[in-house]
Amino acid sequence: MKKLRVIINGRSCGAEKGEILLDIASRNGIKIPTLCHNDVLRGQASCRICVVEVWEKGKKKIVTSCIYPVLADIEVKTNTEEIREIRKNLLRLLLSEAPDSPVINELAKEYLAENISRFKINREDNCIMCGLCVKACEEMGNASISTVNRGIHKKVTTPYEEPSATCIGCGSCAFVCPTNNIAMHENGGKREIWGKTFEMLECENCQKPYITKEQYDFINNKMGEKQERICEECKKKKYTKALVEIYR
Ligand code: SF4
Ligand code: FES
Repeated sequence: MKKLRVIINGRSCGAEKGEILLDIASRNGIKIPTLCHNDVLRGQASCRICVVEVWEKGKKKIVTSCIYPVLADIEVKTNTEEIREIRKNLLRLLLSEAPDSPVINELAKEYLAENISRFKINREDNCIMCGLCVKACEEMGNASISTVNRGIHKKVTTPYEEPSATCIGCGSCAFVCPTNNIAMHENGGKREIWGKTFEMLECENCQKPYITKEQYDFINNKMGEKQERICEECKKKKYTKALVEIYR
């Protein structure tokens, strides 16, 4: 496949046609801030914090790098004054929506966007409506949460704001949320999320409760056979030990 010439902040970065600009930058150690993107779910193009300046055939455009496929030789600037100003304005809005989120506060500090006296501050939650939680739940095949209402009343919730019958308590939504807005509590072998309490099953190796019964059944169903019930930590230890045995 033809390699494209992509220059980011003066550095030459080879790229395949169609590769996403954010991935090219990350691969080359160039950091672009993101909020509605993670490596598995990819950008939802909702936060726009990943904007960068792209020059193609002498013409400049501002693009959201998390969804921008590179199709021609381009030059990219990720941190110009104009880009910083766009991010600053976006962050003021995001900070007014999620005033207690450490991630947003950190970014607001970096982009000098801490003064939000002009904005109405949301004190109800720290949701920036990025859409990652809904996407994560959809990808799991459950769709137990969705966005409801419009405008300032828009929010993520379960159907009729009742504990959802399809929620398996996997916590994927809380895991991907960039602002830690989704409350998930674990105590005494129980997990609570979206108003529903789940019994947790123990890891067969270390006996630590780590997975809800519903999530374990869901995985077994998907895989078509009963899976080993061991937590991530023990899994890692087990495979590292096996690798050491192989290479000994
Ligand atoms: S709850 Fe979190 S993941 Fe879901 S839309 Fe809000 S900020 Fe995004
Ligand atoms: S990270 Fe690209 S639009 Fe949110």
